[in-house]
Amino acid sequence: MEKKILVTGATGFAGSFLLEYLSGKKNGSLLYGTYLSTPGLKNLDSVKNKINLAKVDLLSEEETHNLLKKIKPDIVFHLAAMSSAANSFSSPSKTITNNIQSQVNILEGIRKLNLTDCKILIISSSEVYGNVPQTELPVNENAGFNPTSPYAVSKLSQDFLGLQYFLTYKLKIIRARPFNHIGPRQAEGFVVSTFAKKIVEIEKGKKDNILNVGNLEAKRDFTDVRDMVKAYDLLIEKGAVGDVYNLGSGISYKIADILEKLLSLSKARIKVEIDKSLFRPLDNPELVCNADKFKNLTGWKPEIKIETTLKETLDYWRNII
Ligand code: GDD
Repeated sequence: MEKKILVTGATGFAGSFLLEYLSGKKNGSLLYGTYLSTPGLKNLDSVKNKINLAKVDLLSEEETHNLLKKIKPDIVFHLAAMSSAANSFSSPSKTITNNIQSQVNILEGIRKLNLTDCKILIISSSEVYGNVPQTELPVNENAGFNPTSPYAVSKLSQDFLGLQYFLTYKLKIIRARPFNHIGPRQAEGFVVSTFAKKIVEIEKGKKDNILNVGNLEAKRDFTDVRDMVKAYDLLIEKGAVGDVYNLGSGISYKIADILEKLLSLSKARIKVEIDKSLFRPLDNPELVCNADKFKNLTGWKPEIKIETTLKETLDYWRNII
């Protein structure tokens, strides 16, 4: 029988690449996606005829329940979320309410409809580890939680709600803790998309040649979004229900080095200026992933080189600016 797969946040950055990947697998699945705002629909241009899309506000218990009742999915990838740690400092309530409430509505819908065989992937975040002591790097799944932003707390809540619904109701929930992922289509506001967009604006003469940047000393573990969505699919196929898996490359990049790589891919003459207003009240100094648990289970490893990702991200912005 055809499997019914639902992706929430279908038109978003990871959601659109996940649906492209799933629609290319040709395994006869029926694909469904939810979205909230129309501008992102262009991200699904190449596959929109293969997906049943529904405009659903996951903050509405009724809309979410009705959708689940109509589809009765076999698999749910719950990707929809407010995903910016940076913005969560100025919108703490919105970030926390949105991320927790929408997940509660999904899990309650699945529970009330008695969809006991439905597998659900919950997207937590490496941000739950937060301010990790140097001695615990690279972090594995047993590290302590030291969340340093409202976003991190919202993700820790999503993570633990997933655990709770597994323990209490035996729902088939698998939790992912992805580290940073980057690439074309990522909304402005994250470090690589922001730098890439500004570089292209300077290239095209739309801005003066000054690139304002935040904290360049932080270190993060970057994976191409297309490698990340393959990991999500593998987790649904092979992950143990109730369990949690870190997903990342294991390589730590200083943000200054990422900036240098991006600048080397542009011919524009650009002056970098540190802008203190872009600093966070607290920025985790380093997050790097130990993904051994997931790699040993699935054999996954990231395939796309960071230089390729950065170039394709710049090209993405060159096409739309
Ligand atoms: N956004 C941003 N803008 N970050 C900057 C800038 C800037 O102009 N300049 C320096 N940075 C630094 C930030 O201070 C941070 O240390 C690092 O770049 C990465 O910032 P983001 O790209 O905003 O990502 P993040 O690490 O806060 O969170 C991302 O990764 C998480 C997984 O680790 C997001 O994608 C989250 O959704 C995800 O859960």
